[in-house]
Amino acid sequence: MTETFVFPANNESAEKCAEMIKNGGLVAIPTETVYGLGANGLDEEAVLKIFLAKGRPQDNPLILHLADADEIEKYCCDVPETAKKLAQHFWPGPLTMVLKAKDIVPKCTTAGLDTVAVRCPDCDVTRKLISLAGVPVAAPSANTSGRPSPTSAAHVIEDMTGKIEAIIDNGPCTVGVESTIIDLSGDKPRLLRPGGLPLEDIEAIIGDVVKDKAVKGEVKDDEIVRAPGMKYRHYAPKAPVTVVTGKPEDTGRYILENCGANTGIICFDEYAHMFDDCTVKCLGKVADSGEHARRIFEILRAFDGTDVIKIIAQCPEDKGLDSAVVNRLKKAAGFTVIKV
Ligand code: TXA
Ligand code: MG
Repeated sequence: MTETFVFPANNESAEKCAEMIKNGGLVAIPTETVYGLGANGLDEEAVLKIFLAKGRPQDNPLILHLADADEIEKYCCDVPETAKKLAQHFWPGPLTMVLKAKDIVPKCTTAGLDTVAVRCPDCDVTRKLISLAGVPVAAPSANTSGRPSPTSAAHVIEDMTGKIEAIIDNGPCTVGVESTIIDLSGDKPRLLRPGGLPLEDIEAIIGDVVKDKAVKGEVKDDEIVRAPGMKYRHYAPKAPVTVVTGKPEDTGRYILENCGANTGIICFDEYAHMFDDCTVKCLGKVADSGEHARRIFEILRAFDGTDVIKIIAQCPEDKGLDSAVVNRLKKAAGFTVIKV
């Protein structure tokens, strides 16, 4: 067991934690999206500790967090104009770009791929830490593998106490869902994960982006998909989740007709009054996608430890920032989706 310190977000903490990172330690870092579990991304041994602390399969690569866009060229080669443009527009911010990796990036970080994911987080204390450490910080979300991503220091404490050296507490994350991932290493820009930066904003700068098959499958609305088992269930509460898509008035009615004792409900604020007898968690108002994003992971964690045995969720419309929320809900449901 390691003693895990919880530090406030200030320069002194950035200095202390930069030392820990330089010495091969693990530190949970705040970002605008979710908290990350950081280590020196150039140090194989340190990176290995991330996989152990999370219980993450080693074939799942990590994102390198940079203090500044200028650092892209240190770790990536053949950087296309599109990447430079996107960095200029959206960094620091919730955008991750997959680019061709230079040899300096260890295979442990990229899980053996010849590409590397890079991002510059919009969080002062974390960028300060990275620049003081003088190395890129490899960081996946700071949750135990399979659990909802952490959007507060309390969530990180829940999952990581005793496994890491320190947590910098910067309060709740302002975006609340992970970064949008765009692969720019191939012929065409490709969306690998919808996230905190809406795809529409990216397309306004670089034109059409191909949605990767996996993303399309996850967000497809016109079929009921039931995953065979736990394999595809991520971000998952302990109770099984069903996602209901359609107009809010229709999904609200469907849920009312199909809930019972010990049902947990995820719904928009406007519909909460309908479910007096159930455990209700509100996503925010129908039109408030920012609030949906900030609340989704907290909500997915909140049912654990209650007497809820099944969860039904009202699904936002699949556009803008809500596309990320829809994706996380469907993943939490293992793609158990009902269209009404
Ligand atoms: O907002 C975020 O992106 C947060 C914060 C901490 O920065 N990080 C995060 O990391 O969500 P993680 O590891 O939970 O998710 C990163 C995703 C994984 O699905 C991984 O497979 C993918 O990025 N990824 C990383 N490197 C890749 C690469 N070279 N090619 C394709 N996918 C990659
Ligand atoms: Mg993650």
